[in-house]
Amino acid sequence: MSDTSTPAAFWEARYAGTDRAWSGRVNAVLADVASDLEPARAIDLGCGEGGDAVWLAQRGWTVTGVDLSPTAAERGRAAAEAAAVPAGRIRFVAADLAEWAPQEPAELVTASFLQSWPVVIPREEILRRAAGFVAPGGRLLVTAHAGAPSWSDGEHLHGYSFPAPEDDLRALDLDPSQWVVELAEVRQRAITGPDGATGTVPDGVVLARRI
Ligand SMILES: C[S@@+](CC[C@H](N)C(=O)[O-])C[C@H]1O[C@@H](n2cnc3c(N)ncnc32)[C@H](O)[C@@H]1O
Repeated sequence: MSDTSTPAAFWEARYAGTDRAWSGRVNAVLADVASDLEPARAIDLGCGEGGDAVWLAQRGWTVTGVDLSPTAAERGRAAAEAAAVPAGRIRFVAADLAEWAPQEPAELVTASFLQSWPVVIPREEILRRAAGFVAPGGRLLVTAHAGAPSWSDGEHLHGYSFPAPEDDLRALDLDPSQWVVELAEVRQRAITGPDGATGTVPDGVVLARRI
């Protein structure tokens, strides 16, 4: 049973309790959105074991991945090394995004499934702060679990309330004179359930460009 006394304890125990928590592959929404962008500086918020960050670095981005769990950050470093990402192209920081801020802004700030349950994090505040990390002309991408998987009865979700893209936009409270919202939509993603059957899960997508 994971320690649920704080988000940091919960997530560290979650990673330390398994050899690998996620697939290591890039998330579909990020791959789709970033494929069309010119590589520059990127920040991956709640980067986990580095699947998205390593993918970005392989495409020429200079990436900072930030995660609450030191074990996750260390796995990100190992994944970058295994993928032979050039030195200086990627770094991983173990830090709390409620407090952490970058030394310089980024052309892409991405958060894939920066969601925490049953231990709650100040997600909306973190996303609002993250908007401030985006360089002029850069983009903020928020990908979120917007609902339970089709095969789930929802019981394991501990009453978690999924954010719709509209909820994330409301939380971000972007100044329309400074931002253009390019995407606010739900995409169904095919997944395999625990019994091997195919199902879908809704990904909420918010993409905004800073003018
Ligand atoms: C559901 S996982 C997603 C991981 C990764 N982005 C992916 O798509 O595989 C959420 C991640 O957010 C991290 N996290 C949660 N709260 C955080 C916080 N306050 N600051 C930094 N990272 C946080 C967790 O440690 C975890 O790795």
